[in-house]
Amino acid sequence: MSDLIGQKFGEWDGGERPLFLAPMSGVTDLPFRLLAKDCGADVTITEFTNSTALSREAAVSWRKMESHETEVPFIPQIFGGNADDMVTAAEMLAPSCDIIDLNFGCPAPKVTKICAGAALMGQPDNLVSMVRGIIDNVEVPVTAKMRLGTGANQHNAIEICQRLEDVGVSRLCVHGRTLKQRYSGQADWDYIKQVVDSVEVPVVANGDVVDSKSAADCLSVTNASGLMIGRGAIGRPAMFGEMKVGLGWMEETELPWVKANDEWFDFDETGKAFATRKWCWDRYIELSHATVGIQARWMQRHAVAFTKGLPGGKKIRSIMHEMPTPEDFAQAISEFLVGDIAF
Ligand SMILES: Cc1cc2nc3c(=O)[nH]c(=O)nc-3n(C[C@H](O)[C@H](O)[C@H](O)COP(=O)(O)O)c2cc1C
Repeated sequence: MSDLIGQKFGEWDGGERPLFLAPMSGVTDLPFRLLAKDCGADVTITEFTNSTALSREAAVSWRKMESHETEVPFIPQIFGGNADDMVTAAEMLAPSCDIIDLNFGCPAPKVTKICAGAALMGQPDNLVSMVRGIIDNVEVPVTAKMRLGTGANQHNAIEICQRLEDVGVSRLCVHGRTLKQRYSGQADWDYIKQVVDSVEVPVVANGDVVDSKSAADCLSVTNASGLMIGRGAIGRPAMFGEMKVGLGWMEETELPWVKANDEWFDFDETGKAFATRKWCWDRYIELSHATVGIQARWMQRHAVAFTKGLPGGKKIRSIMHEMPTPEDFAQAISEFLVGDIAF
């Protein structure tokens, strides 16, 4: 098995396990993924991309598949309801990626209506044969992300995961909710534990992990071989490093935003929040310049998230429209995050 897949761990004894940035449409663009890695994430995955569009060489979809030499492993995620297009897209991606991830978790109606994403969990035979077709045609490892089931019947993630292991899937990720639940209710970590116990491949647990306490709780319940964090990292990629510090996996003094601030230990909580987010914002802009260039829409979305909850953060939305260029906007956010700018 590829070194990039990682191992199946046993019972959690407090030791280190990989932290994944969840694939998130409209959030996990390339500079944000690289930033998350600088902040402590071990593995990143692109947002999901339509395999039919990829197979027809749609430029907008291929832009989502851009990576950088420092993004190792590079894991594009694809979705689709047409098995042939899934195979074609996987074949096109395989030469330039390390692992291909398949989405069987998306609950969005525009995806489920084409019988893709989480809707495929309602058709386990089609799902499994689609995955077998992909594995038979590409050299790279294939992984899959899914939910507990559709919610229409009993959960079937265990059955699907066992069958996917049989056809050669290298790693699985389970979000502890059903399609029907979308994002409501609490993630069911007990069921994820049953999946972990029912297969030999590594299983990553996903859902409601937001800090070191929930990370420790989730690992204690599931013994998963890694944790995947989504919404908790939106606007707060620093949470990966903070989580590792809280879990005793790294020292606070090793965090890049602590290293960058000589007076860190004199700051109060608000000062630390500003300093952390300023470091992350400036790095996001730096990584944008180093890769795809500043993309105004991506940057604006992140700006809202990065400033959320900070005193004065709401005013950022109004200055967004006043800045003549994206560079001016990036600079204005950086200055806001110094923490002593009066708006
Ligand atoms: C804005 C947003 C976009 C998402 N896009 C994707 C996606 O492209 N692919 C995917 O597998 N899951 C996607 N998800 C689901 C997340 O990867 C994750 O499974 C879910 O948010 C639960 O994890 P969390 O509780 O840590 O947020 C998305 C979630 C959000 C909030």
